[in-house]
Amino acid sequence: MAGLRAAIAAVEENPRITVGLVSKLYPLRSHSVSAEGGTSAVLNPKDSLDLHSFDTIKGSDYLADQDAVEHFVSIVPEQIYTTDHWGCPWSRNDDGTISQRDFGGLSFPRATFAADKTGFHVMQTLFGRCQKYDNIHFYNEFFATSIITSGNSFNGLTTINLQNGDFVVFQGRTIIFSAGGAGRLYQFSTYASSVTGDGDAIAYRAGIPLKDMEFVQFHPTGLIPSGILITEAARAEGGYLRNSEGKRFMEKYAPTKLEEAPRDIVSRAMMWEILAGRGIKGKHGDHPYIYLDLRHIADKLEERLPMITDIAKKFNNIDPAEEMIPVRPATHYTMGGIDVNVDTETGIPGIFGAGENVSISIHGANRLGSNSTNECLAYGNVAGIRAARWASSHSIPDLDVLKASQEETRIWDDVLNRDGDESVSGIRDELRTGMDLNVGVLKTGSELENQVKNIRNLKERYKGISIPDKSHVFNLQLQWAMELGFMLDLAEIITIGAMMRKESRGAHYRNDFPQRDDANFLKHTITKYTKDGPQFSYRPVVITKWKPAERVY
Ligand code: FUM
Repeated sequence: MAGLRAAIAAVEENPRITVGLVSKLYPLRSHSVSAEGGTSAVLNPKDSLDLHSFDTIKGSDYLADQDAVEHFVSIVPEQIYTTDHWGCPWSRNDDGTISQRDFGGLSFPRATFAADKTGFHVMQTLFGRCQKYDNIHFYNEFFATSIITSGNSFNGLTTINLQNGDFVVFQGRTIIFSAGGAGRLYQFSTYASSVTGDGDAIAYRAGIPLKDMEFVQFHPTGLIPSGILITEAARAEGGYLRNSEGKRFMEKYAPTKLEEAPRDIVSRAMMWEILAGRGIKGKHGDHPYIYLDLRHIADKLEERLPMITDIAKKFNNIDPAEEMIPVRPATHYTMGGIDVNVDTETGIPGIFGAGENVSISIHGANRLGSNSTNECLAYGNVAGIRAARWASSHSIPDLDVLKASQEETRIWDDVLNRDGDESVSGIRDELRTGMDLNVGVLKTGSELENQVKNIRNLKERYKGISIPDKSHVFNLQLQWAMELGFMLDLAEIITIGAMMRKESRGAHYRNDFPQRDDANFLKHTITKYTKDGPQFSYRPVVITKWKPAERVY
């Protein structure tokens, strides 16, 4: 989503430039189309930017940079009106104004929505808008493998054209990373299988630091067994969570907000209920789960929650008007990403980033639901403008042919040629189940240490994979192998970062360090690539006017 928004902003900023949109998927198959419940923006005079900032900062467990959050909330509202003018079918009130609903951790109902298909409609709107410009060119089904930098500036993007197997290097004045998150390094996940952290890993390997990677979000209501997202809007519209005794339990964990507490708190509550033996087993599998009860809001399903109603029927043969939906926490978002500032600049001049691929940081340790697609719109716009300005005053550098050909050799002569005993899917499954088990909602130091060992072992074994299909045309085995390489790098960073953060904050919960520790850990984790492995350092959090306080809902 951020990439489409950036492309439009760039050509509007400077109609003489040309934008290439490189994507491993057809853009409307990108995971952004799965965003469901809403996107927060201050549109109502009774709401305020300060309130949106405060909700976001409290939600982040005070790890968000407060100056960045204030910037973020101030630039979001215009994006809602812009997309409205471009034809996005935002749900309306009876008087024709744009409708807004509640969402977890909000103190004012500010989630703008298009039924429960928000991402789908925003993506359609942006993609349609892109068609208006002859100077936006789509390169669909090009798999990015690396970026070339020379003299600390962008030199080229190396890709495989999946359709014919050609190795293609894109040259340009600048590049914007908008490649999404990294959640598919877990097994039980709301993410599409394409979300393998390629952008994070490519930037990292090119020497661009990553920030706060240990903060991985679990959405409370992943559908059993597929993991498909059942939107938080279901609870915002009045849905209940029930344990095996049929009881609502959120009062114990978030006495005021109940099911509408932020998702880190709800996910933990569900896990504690399950650990206490109050999960449900049986009808929907042996892994204990919790029920989402929408039966009492059956009258709202068709208008406000049509997609999840359809999903429950099609995937689980459940009519939510009559039966409860089995759910449990599933990975949903990576708060960490490429370290950028509010101008979307990375550490390398002329390289920008926006969307889930980056960490600005506005979400800190826990993103509030409905604060993602707004980020894509707002900072996609910023990135497009910034990159266009950069492009207007810089020329295209000569391609570093040596580095390009080294990458080509790596792909065809090293990765594709591997003929060992290890299977890509075997290593990938072990990685994912290990991450689920050891780096989940509730973690302990010993589990994290074990998982670091597992990952290092998997990295060794990865050298001995085999790729039986040696062809160049749409070679999914090759693509999956390269994605696995990216995921192994990121899993190592996430797990070591979590091991080193000996406190609990937001989505990062340590059974062995259950308290937040501001004295030692009110700081961002910065990770840099070295050939000997990731190197970690820390940076202070920017506090403007909200002093860190206990987080009670
Ligand atoms: O539950 C949801 O609809 C998710 C929204 C979000 O992640 O922002």
